[in-house]
Amino acid sequence: MAIKGYIASSMDGYIASSDGQVDFLTDYQHIDCGYDAFIAGIDTIVMGRKTYETILAFGVAWPYPQQQTWVLTSREDLRVENERICLWKQGLDALIAELKRPEAGNTWVVGGAELQAAFIDKRALDTLEVYLMPVMLGTGIALFPKEAIAKQAIKQVHTSLIDGTVIKHTYHFDVAP
Ligand SMILES: NC(=O)c1ccc[n+]([C@@H]2O[C@H](COP(=O)([O-])OP(=O)(O)OC[C@H]3O[C@@H](n4cnc5c(N)ncnc54)[C@H](OP(=O)(O)O)[C@@H]3O)[C@@H](O)[C@H]2O)c1
Repeated sequence: MAIKGYIASSMDGYIASSDGQVDFLTDYQHIDCGYDAFIAGIDTIVMGRKTYETILAFGVAWPYPQQQTWVLTSREDLRVENERICLWKQGLDALIAELKRPEAGNTWVVGGAELQAAFIDKRALDTLEVYLMPVMLGTGIALFPKEAIAKQAIKQVHTSLIDGTVIKHTYHFDVAP
């Protein structure tokens, strides 16, 4: 059972434009970054409220119908899209404890950057796969927000090139007990 990150970024380290749009990814949808195999191994999904709202705004069918989804938020007024989506208001420590129960299976922390950084800072992510797309955005929501993560060494990093253009970094973290 593992808690994983899997996220796309521009080469200069942005996961979305400043207003939260991810349309820069559209040009690279034809590149196989192993998503189908990845999602097939995921039982539980976790995301921050802003990422949830971005997905709802796409206006498409909920993309994770097979998984239990937790949305971290302090909001009371969020629309819940279906019965497999629940709002999590008990804080991050309690959520991490829940995700470490065997019943949670494998978890994907979808993002965004704020929530992902909180998991890394808590030493709760086992691995993080970052896919660096061959584009510079110049500005936007940073993959690793400034001052969100205290200094920590990374156990191992693997890097590979996909389709001659996308750089995949896999970070393996030392997880807190
Ligand atoms: N490129 C990619 O692969 C990728 C992947 C995922 C997301 N994104 C993009 O990322 C953008 C959003 O990222 P973001 O960093 O701005 O926001 P985010 O992490 O998606 O959401 C932030 C919100 O989640 C809740 N939250 C986050 N951390 C929390 C914590 N430790 N404890 C309690 N609540 C917590 C809070 O909600 P409340 O304010 O409601 O309390 C916070 O305002 C979206 O535009 C999305 O499209 C891109």
